[in-house]
Amino acid sequence: MDVKGSVAVITGGASGIGETVARYLAAQGAAVVLGDMNQEGLDRVVADIRKAGGKAAGRTLNVTDDADTASFMDFAVKEFGAINIAVPCAGIIRDAMFLSTDKETGKVRKAMSTADFRAVMDVNLVGPFITLREAASRMVDNGWKGVLFTISSIQKEGGVGQLNYSSTKAAMALWPKILVGEFQMKGIQGIRVVSIAPGYVGTPMVKGMDQGALAKIVAGVHLGRLIEPDEIADAIAWVVRNDAVNATCIEVAGGMISGLIAK
Ligand SMILES: NC(=O)c1ccc[n+]([C@@H]2O[C@H](COP(=O)([O-])OP(=O)(O)OC[C@H]3O[C@@H](n4cnc5c(N)ncnc54)[C@H](O)[C@@H]3O)[C@@H](O)[C@H]2O)c1
Repeated sequence: MDVKGSVAVITGGASGIGETVARYLAAQGAAVVLGDMNQEGLDRVVADIRKAGGKAAGRTLNVTDDADTASFMDFAVKEFGAINIAVPCAGIIRDAMFLSTDKETGKVRKAMSTADFRAVMDVNLVGPFITLREAASRMVDNGWKGVLFTISSIQKEGGVGQLNYSSTKAAMALWPKILVGEFQMKGIQGIRVVSIAPGYVGTPMVKGMDQGALAKIVAGVHLGRLIEPDEIADAIAWVVRNDAVNATCIEVAGGMISGLIAK
Protein backbone atom coordinates (compact mmCIF):
# COMPACT_ATOMS: atom_id res chain seq x y z
CA MET A 1 0.00 0.00 0.00
CA ASP A 2 1.19 3.56 -0.70
CA VAL A 3 1.23 6.22 1.97
CA LYS A 4 0.94 8.78 -0.82
CA GLY A 5 -2.68 9.35 -1.76
CA SER A 6 -4.09 7.62 1.33
CA VAL A 7 -6.25 9.27 4.00
CA ALA A 8 -5.25 8.87 7.64
CA VAL A 9 -7.38 9.65 10.70
CA ILE A 10 -5.24 10.32 13.75
CA THR A 11 -6.58 10.90 17.26
CA GLY A 12 -4.42 12.70 19.80
CA GLY A 13 -3.08 14.59 16.80
CA ALA A 14 -2.44 17.83 18.69
CA SER A 15 0.60 16.55 20.59
CA GLY A 16 3.39 14.02 20.86
CA ILE A 17 3.23 10.83 18.81
CA GLY A 18 -0.08 11.69 17.10
CA GLU A 19 1.23 15.08 16.01
CA THR A 20 4.44 13.59 14.65
CA VAL A 21 2.67 10.76 12.84
CA ALA A 22 0.43 13.38 11.21
CA ARG A 23 3.36 15.52 10.07
CA TYR A 24 5.29 12.46 8.86
CA LEU A 25 2.47 10.85 6.85
CA ALA A 26 1.47 14.23 5.39
CA ALA A 27 5.07 14.84 4.29
CA GLN A 28 4.88 11.50 2.46
CA GLY A 29 1.74 12.53 0.60
CA ALA A 30 -1.11 11.27 2.79
CA ALA A 31 -4.07 13.50 3.64
CA VAL A 32 -4.35 13.59 7.42
CA VAL A 33 -7.37 14.28 9.60
CA LEU A 34 -6.59 15.07 13.21
CA GLY A 35 -8.88 14.79 16.21
CA ASP A 36 -8.05 15.96 19.72
CA MET A 37 -9.59 17.75 22.71
CA ASN A 38 -6.94 20.44 22.34
CA GLN A 39 -8.23 22.86 19.69
CA GLU A 40 -5.22 25.16 19.88
CA GLY A 41 -2.81 22.29 19.31
CA LEU A 42 -4.88 21.04 16.39
CA ASP A 43 -4.90 24.46 14.75
CA ARG A 44 -1.11 24.72 15.10
CA VAL A 45 -0.38 21.28 13.61
CA VAL A 46 -2.88 21.62 10.76
CA ALA A 47 -1.56 25.09 9.84
CA ASP A 48 2.06 23.83 9.87
CA ILE A 49 1.25 20.85 7.63
CA ARG A 50 -0.65 23.04 5.17
CA LYS A 51 2.17 25.60 5.15
CA ALA A 52 4.56 22.79 4.23
CA GLY A 53 2.32 21.90 1.27
CA GLY A 54 0.56 18.94 2.91
CA LYS A 55 -3.13 18.08 3.13
CA ALA A 56 -4.58 18.31 6.63
CA ALA A 57 -7.81 18.99 8.48
CA GLY A 58 -8.58 19.00 12.19
CA ARG A 59 -11.61 18.85 14.44
CA THR A 60 -12.05 18.72 18.19
CA LEU A 61 -12.88 15.26 19.37
CA ASN A 62 -13.47 13.40 22.59
CA VAL A 63 -12.54 9.81 21.76
CA THR A 64 -14.67 8.45 24.61
CA ASP A 65 -17.85 9.69 22.93
CA ASP A 66 -19.58 7.49 20.32
CA ALA A 67 -21.48 10.22 18.47
CA ASP A 68 -18.56 12.64 18.45
CA THR A 69 -16.22 9.98 17.04
CA ALA A 70 -18.73 8.90 14.39
CA SER A 71 -19.12 12.49 13.24
CA PHE A 72 -15.32 12.95 13.27
CA MET A 73 -15.06 10.04 10.81
CA ASP A 74 -17.80 11.57 8.65
CA PHE A 75 -15.86 14.84 8.72
CA ALA A 76 -12.74 13.00 7.48
CA VAL A 77 -14.67 11.40 4.62
CA LYS A 78 -16.24 14.74 3.71
CA GLU A 79 -12.82 16.43 3.66
CA PHE A 80 -10.81 13.82 1.74
CA GLY A 81 -13.23 11.22 0.37
CA ALA A 82 -12.05 8.07 2.19
CA ILE A 83 -10.41 6.55 5.26
CA ASN A 84 -7.44 4.21 4.77
CA ILE A 85 -5.37 4.52 7.93
CA ALA A 86 -6.53 4.92 11.52
CA VAL A 87 -4.03 5.75 14.26
CA PRO A 88 -5.62 6.18 17.70
CA CYS A 89 -2.95 8.12 19.61
CA ALA A 90 -5.17 9.88 22.16
CA GLY A 91 -4.03 8.65 25.53
CA ILE A 92 -3.53 9.63 29.16
CA ILE A 93 -1.66 8.43 32.22
CA ARG A 94 -2.87 8.56 35.84
CA ASP A 95 -0.05 6.75 37.61
CA ALA A 96 -0.38 5.57 41.20
CA MET A 97 0.53 2.51 43.22
CA PHE A 98 -2.31 0.00 43.69
CA LEU A 99 -1.66 0.37 47.43
CA SER A 100 0.69 2.76 49.21
CA THR A 101 1.61 1.87 52.77
CA ASP A 102 2.88 3.99 55.60
CA LYS A 103 6.61 3.41 56.15
CA GLU A 104 6.25 3.27 59.93
CA THR A 105 3.01 1.39 60.48
CA GLY A 106 2.95 -0.70 57.29
CA LYS A 107 -0.76 0.10 57.01
CA VAL A 108 -2.41 1.21 53.78
CA ARG A 109 -2.21 4.98 53.49
CA LYS A 110 -3.77 5.40 50.06
CA ALA A 111 -4.65 3.46 46.93
CA MET A 112 -5.17 4.00 43.22
CA SER A 113 -8.58 5.62 42.94
CA THR A 114 -11.42 4.17 40.91
CA ALA A 115 -11.65 7.51 39.12
CA ASP A 116 -8.02 7.25 37.96
CA PHE A 117 -8.46 3.61 36.94
CA ARG A 118 -11.66 4.41 35.00
CA ALA A 119 -10.31 7.54 33.32
CA VAL A 120 -7.43 5.60 31.77
CA MET A 121 -9.73 2.74 30.69
CA ASP A 122 -12.06 5.23 29.10
CA VAL A 123 -9.50 7.16 27.04
CA ASN A 124 -6.91 4.43 26.31
CA LEU A 125 -9.21 1.43 25.85
CA VAL A 126 -12.79 2.52 25.11
CA GLY A 127 -11.42 5.38 22.97
CA PRO A 128 -9.48 3.20 20.49
CA PHE A 129 -12.41 0.74 20.44
CA ILE A 130 -14.80 3.44 19.25
CA THR A 131 -12.20 5.02 16.93
CA LEU A 132 -11.34 1.77 15.16
CA ARG A 133 -14.93 0.58 15.00
CA GLU A 134 -16.14 3.81 13.41
CA ALA A 135 -13.19 3.93 10.98
CA ALA A 136 -13.41 0.24 10.05
CA SER A 137 -17.20 0.33 9.51
CA ARG A 138 -16.79 3.06 6.92
CA MET A 139 -13.83 1.29 5.30
CA VAL A 140 -15.72 -2.00 4.97
CA ASP A 141 -18.95 -0.40 3.72
CA ASN A 142 -17.09 1.56 1.04
CA GLY A 143 -14.47 -1.03 0.10
CA TRP A 144 -11.58 1.22 1.25
CA LYS A 145 -8.40 -0.73 1.92
CA GLY A 146 -5.90 0.15 4.60
CA VAL A 147 -4.47 -0.36 8.06
CA LEU A 148 -5.93 0.02 11.53
CA PHE A 149 -3.27 0.68 14.16
CA THR A 150 -3.30 0.35 17.90
CA ILE A 151 -0.72 2.11 20.05
CA SER A 152 0.48 -0.27 22.74
CA SER A 153 3.61 0.30 24.82
CA ILE A 154 6.55 -1.49 26.32
CA GLN A 155 4.40 -1.14 29.48
CA LYS A 156 2.18 -3.93 28.08
CA GLU A 157 4.55 -6.25 29.97
CA GLY A 158 3.33 -4.66 33.21
CA GLY A 159 4.72 -1.40 34.57
CA VAL A 160 4.67 -0.86 38.33
CA GLY A 161 2.65 2.19 39.31
CA GLN A 162 0.68 1.79 36.09
CA LEU A 163 -1.89 -0.94 36.74
CA ASN A 164 -4.47 1.09 34.84
CA TYR A 165 -2.23 2.17 31.94
CA SER A 166 -0.45 -1.19 31.49
CA SER A 167 -3.80 -2.99 31.40
CA THR A 168 -4.89 -0.85 28.45
CA LYS A 169 -1.57 -1.28 26.65
CA ALA A 170 -1.65 -5.07 27.03
CA ALA A 171 -5.07 -4.97 25.40
CA MET A 172 -3.78 -2.82 22.52
CA ALA A 173 -1.12 -5.46 21.77
CA LEU A 174 -3.79 -8.15 21.71
CA TRP A 175 -6.30 -6.54 19.35
CA PRO A 176 -4.53 -7.15 15.99
CA LYS A 177 -4.85 -10.92 16.33
CA ILE A 178 -8.50 -10.79 17.36
CA LEU A 179 -9.57 -8.26 14.75
CA VAL A 180 -7.68 -9.84 11.85
CA GLY A 181 -9.07 -13.24 12.91
CA GLU A 182 -12.59 -11.83 12.80
CA PHE A 183 -11.95 -10.12 9.44
CA GLN A 184 -10.74 -13.44 8.05
CA MET A 185 -13.85 -15.23 9.35
CA LYS A 186 -16.13 -12.59 7.86
CA GLY A 187 -14.36 -12.39 4.49
CA ILE A 188 -13.18 -8.81 5.12
CA GLN A 189 -10.07 -8.46 2.97
CA GLY A 190 -7.68 -5.58 2.53
CA ILE A 191 -7.80 -4.16 6.06
CA ARG A 192 -4.78 -5.02 8.18
CA VAL A 193 -4.45 -4.44 11.93
CA VAL A 194 -1.06 -3.76 13.48
CA SER A 195 -0.01 -2.61 16.93
CA ILE A 196 3.03 -0.44 17.59
CA ALA A 197 4.57 -0.70 21.06
CA PRO A 198 6.84 2.30 21.70
CA GLY A 199 9.41 2.46 24.45
CA TYR A 200 9.93 5.79 26.22
CA VAL A 201 9.36 8.47 23.59
CA GLY A 202 10.33 12.13 24.11
CA THR A 203 6.79 13.57 24.16
CA PRO A 204 4.98 15.85 26.65
CA MET A 205 3.57 12.71 28.34
CA VAL A 206 7.07 11.44 29.16
CA LYS A 207 8.60 14.87 29.79
CA GLY A 208 6.01 15.25 32.56
CA MET A 209 7.39 12.17 34.38
CA ASP A 210 9.74 12.22 37.36
CA GLN A 211 13.02 13.03 35.54
CA GLY A 212 15.20 11.09 38.03
CA ALA A 213 13.15 7.94 37.48
CA LEU A 214 13.23 8.55 33.71
CA ALA A 215 17.04 8.87 33.67
CA LYS A 216 17.31 5.50 35.44
CA ILE A 217 14.97 3.89 32.92
CA VAL A 218 16.86 5.33 29.94
CA ALA A 219 20.15 4.06 31.40
CA GLY A 220 18.73 0.55 31.01
CA VAL A 221 17.81 0.97 27.34
CA HIS A 222 20.38 -0.43 24.89
CA LEU A 223 19.88 2.56 22.58
CA GLY A 224 20.84 4.84 25.48
CA ARG A 225 18.29 7.60 24.83
CA LEU A 226 14.59 8.30 24.49
CA ILE A 227 12.94 7.19 21.25
CA GLU A 228 12.25 10.07 18.85
CA PRO A 229 8.58 10.50 17.86
CA ASP A 230 9.79 10.39 14.22
CA GLU A 231 11.05 6.85 14.80
CA ILE A 232 7.53 5.78 15.78
CA ALA A 233 6.05 7.60 12.77
CA ASP A 234 8.59 5.92 10.49
CA ALA A 235 7.57 2.47 11.80
CA ILE A 236 3.95 3.32 11.08
CA ALA A 237 4.77 4.45 7.53
CA TRP A 238 6.77 1.26 6.95
CA VAL A 239 3.86 -0.90 8.16
CA VAL A 240 1.52 0.93 5.79
CA ARG A 241 3.85 0.23 2.85
CA ASN A 242 4.42 -3.43 3.67
CA ASP A 243 1.28 -5.48 3.00
CA ALA A 244 2.80 -8.55 4.65
CA VAL A 245 2.89 -6.97 8.11
CA ASN A 246 -0.40 -7.88 9.75
CA ALA A 247 -1.97 -9.14 12.98
CA THR A 248 1.10 -8.42 15.04
CA CYS A 249 2.60 -6.03 17.57
CA ILE A 250 5.93 -4.38 16.78
CA GLU A 251 8.13 -2.94 19.52
CA VAL A 252 9.96 0.28 18.72
CA ALA A 253 11.73 0.56 22.04
CA GLY A 254 15.46 0.74 21.42
CA GLY A 255 16.18 -2.55 23.16
CA MET A 256 14.45 -2.20 26.49
CA ILE A 257 14.93 -5.45 28.36
CA SER A 258 13.02 -6.10 31.55
CA GLY A 259 15.25 -7.17 34.45
CA LEU A 260 18.33 -5.56 32.91
CA ILE A 261 20.49 -3.74 35.47
CA ALA A 262 22.24 -0.63 34.15
CA LYS A 263 26.05 -0.48 34.62
N1 LIG B 1 5.33 8.87 25.05
C1 LIG B 1 5.66 7.61 25.23
O1 LIG B 1 6.75 7.27 25.70
C2 LIG B 1 4.71 6.53 24.86
C3 LIG B 1 5.16 5.21 24.94
C4 LIG B 1 4.29 4.20 24.60
C5 LIG B 1 3.01 4.49 24.20
N2 LIG B 1 2.60 5.78 24.14
C6 LIG B 1 1.22 6.01 23.73
O2 LIG B 1 1.18 6.87 22.61
C7 LIG B 1 -0.03 7.63 22.65
C8 LIG B 1 0.32 9.10 22.54
O3 LIG B 1 1.14 9.46 23.65
P1 LIG B 1 1.98 10.80 23.68
O4 LIG B 1 3.19 10.53 24.45
O5 LIG B 1 2.07 11.35 22.31
O6 LIG B 1 1.01 11.71 24.60
P2 LIG B 1 0.66 13.26 24.56
O7 LIG B 1 0.18 13.57 25.94
O8 LIG B 1 1.77 14.07 23.98
O9 LIG B 1 -0.57 13.34 23.53
C9 LIG B 1 -1.80 12.74 23.81
C10 LIG B 1 -2.89 13.56 23.14
O10 LIG B 1 -4.14 12.92 23.40
C11 LIG B 1 -5.10 13.93 23.60
N3 LIG B 1 -6.25 13.41 24.35
C12 LIG B 1 -6.28 13.02 25.64
N4 LIG B 1 -7.52 12.61 25.96
C13 LIG B 1 -8.29 12.73 24.84
C14 LIG B 1 -9.64 12.46 24.54
N5 LIG B 1 -10.49 11.98 25.45
N6 LIG B 1 -10.07 12.67 23.28
C15 LIG B 1 -9.24 13.18 22.33
N7 LIG B 1 -7.95 13.47 22.58
C16 LIG B 1 -7.48 13.25 23.81
C17 LIG B 1 -4.36 15.03 24.35
O11 LIG B 1 -5.04 16.28 24.25
C18 LIG B 1 -3.01 15.01 23.67
O12 LIG B 1 -2.98 15.91 22.59
C19 LIG B 1 -0.74 7.24 23.94
O13 LIG B 1 -1.67 6.22 23.67
C20 LIG B 1 0.37 6.70 24.78
O14 LIG B 1 -0.10 5.79 25.72
C21 LIG B 1 3.40 6.81 24.46
